[in-house]
Amino acid sequence: MLTVRAPATSANLGSGFDVFGAALGHPADVVRVERASETTISVTGAGAEFVPTDPSENTAGVVARELDAPAHIRIDKGVRPSSGLGSSAASAAGAAVALNELYDRGLSDEELVRLAAEGEAVVSGEAHADNVAPSILGGFTIVTDDGITTMDADLPVVVCLPDIVVSTRDARGVVPETVGMDQLVETVGNASTLVAGMARDDPELVGRGLTDPVVTPARAELVDGYDAVTEAAREAGATGVTISGAGPGVLAVCRHRGQRRAVASAMVGAFADEGVDSFAYQTEI
Ligand code: HSE
Repeated sequence: MLTVRAPATSANLGSGFDVFGAALGHPADVVRVERASETTISVTGAGAEFVPTDPSENTAGVVARELDAPAHIRIDKGVRPSSGLGSSAASAAGAAVALNELYDRGLSDEELVRLAAEGEAVVSGEAHADNVAPSILGGFTIVTDDGITTMDADLPVVVCLPDIVVSTRDARGVVPETVGMDQLVETVGNASTLVAGMARDDPELVGRGLTDPVVTPARAELVDGYDAVTEAAREAGATGVTISGAGPGVLAVCRHRGQRRAVASAMVGAFADEGVDSFAYQTEI
């Protein structure tokens, strides 16, 4: 029996749509694997009822099949499905790392990321390694077709999860197909600022770099209360706010750890004022 903890992740970080991702201190999925003649999956924990246990429909099951590594896989979900925190990616990442070890397959980190992304693709329809990469590698990751760059990072954040359902399919459906030159220039500037901020663990720069003129404004329409929550988080001291992954989670970067409580309570309060229940994690990248 082998046990792996696979952290929740926040993809995009505003200006890095389908490119940036960051591992969060918590929550996390815990994946346990044991050799078996055929793969079975059991799921407990947050939103377990929404996670398929048929191995061909579960990201971890697909990873086991692709790796030819049949196993009893037990997933304890800490990462709620459809939260914007890379829930299916965490299970795929945990399974890839655990089964690689259990069967001594010797895959490199980058191969594990590609394998886990395939698992996610079969279930979600499209492969985006911006969640599986940080779940496997930790820290802040930059994923492109040419490779994966990783950086250590240490930033206090709050992620607020509203009780709203936004499917990744819908969230991708509202993304504009083209961008203007002004938007491109602004996005490149913000993404560059964010990377510099990550390198320096500077919450002011990272907060500034979270701003995105294209994808986030379109997706904000799907998250009731997004503008009010953003404003409340900023008033409580957050340096920047954006949608986590495809949403509906909302991520706020804080100046220091002690500020997270006030930011979390401001965000939950703002959602409540809009009639939306929510829950906030005080965590770190
Ligand atoms: N980059 C992806 C998106 C993450 O925002 O749609 C979710 O798969």
